[in-house]
Amino acid sequence: MLPSAKNRFGRVDLDVTAFSFGTAPVGNIFREIDEQTSDAMFQRSWDADIRYYDTAPMYGHGLSELRTGQSLRWKNRDDFVLSSKVGRILKPKKRSEIDFAPWNNAAPFEVVFDYSYDGTMRSFEDSLQRLALERMDICFIHDVDVFTRGDDQPAVFDEAMDGCWKALSQLRDEGVVKAIGVGVNEWEVCQAALERRDFDCFLLAGRYTLLEQESLDSFLPMCEERGAAVVVGGGFNSGILATGAVDGAKYNYAPAPPEIMDKVTKIEQVCADHKVPLPAAALQFVVAHPAVPSFIAGTRTVEQLDKNLAWFSQDIPADFWAELKHKGLLREDAPTP
Ligand SMILES: NC(=O)c1ccc[n+]([C@@H]2O[C@H](COP(=O)([O-])OP(=O)(O)OC[C@H]3O[C@@H](n4cnc5c(N)ncnc54)[C@H](OP(=O)(O)O)[C@@H]3O)[C@@H](O)[C@H]2O)c1
Repeated sequence: MLPSAKNRFGRVDLDVTAFSFGTAPVGNIFREIDEQTSDAMFQRSWDADIRYYDTAPMYGHGLSELRTGQSLRWKNRDDFVLSSKVGRILKPKKRSEIDFAPWNNAAPFEVVFDYSYDGTMRSFEDSLQRLALERMDICFIHDVDVFTRGDDQPAVFDEAMDGCWKALSQLRDEGVVKAIGVGVNEWEVCQAALERRDFDCFLLAGRYTLLEQESLDSFLPMCEERGAAVVVGGGFNSGILATGAVDGAKYNYAPAPPEIMDKVTKIEQVCADHKVPLPAAALQFVVAHPAVPSFIAGTRTVEQLDKNLAWFSQDIPADFWAELKHKGLLREDAPTP
């Protein structure tokens, strides 16, 4: 499949490119990306006919939305699809008083969680101002998961299913936004949200990848049945599926634990036997699922982006997928390209 191939966004009248541009890195996660590199990545993706971009207020405390708007503002707005998120309000504050981790040299705003109706409306409006764009097409409720909220998650989830839901479903009914969903790091939370409310889509980060496919049990079938689109972020599991099991490889935004290093090493052996680059398999695997219209990839340099675009459409022999399954490294029931 070409990275620029258009896929239908579930039941919504919207097409997204199979490869999309994730903007957490241009929010300066872990280390800084300069303005020129950020803009060069956007332009390179545009030249490759990539037409779906994902951002969020949280990425770089506003910096990612500012950079996304700056790079896309003068494109024809109908030519691309944009998603952003709600759940956090940004309030101006002295840099010296802000805890920026894991962002570096981010924008001078403190991030305050807010999943109320009013907070959602404000967050939505603020995003458009930062982007200086007339609309976002898709809006996700961000990070109502245990990974981010720990013991507070059940209460936060309930609040979001009330306040955010009321605001976003109103915006959807009014035609202000085309699709609404939830963007989290746990499929269980997505499933609970779909059981509770009529969401169009999910951004599932890291939980449907070449490394892990538990979401095949119930969540992905439920999405297929309901016509909910699932875009996959963190499809490299934050790094290790792009770099391989090298020293310092990242899994879930932290150093990869030994069992993950071990599984990736075994997958890499099969890759070597079939002359398949690991990231090519990671990219192509995800979008083979019928509920997944797009792989949202984060990149730090134009070189990384170029490699990912090339890997996305590289030929992979059917025997490769069969051997991964035979060796128990990939679930038997996982759709493959
Ligand atoms: N809750 C949510 O809604 C949520 C959560 C996570 C992600 N997302 C979305 O999904 C997007 C992608 O996720 P992500 O950026 O967090 O993780 P990811 O795509 O799994 O991993 C991105 C990282 O992989 C490494 N990488 C990518 N291409 C590479 C290449 N060709 N060679 C070597 N390394 C390469 C880079 O690491 P280095 O930076 O270390 O070089 C890059 O920052 C985000 O930008 C965001 O838009 C949403």
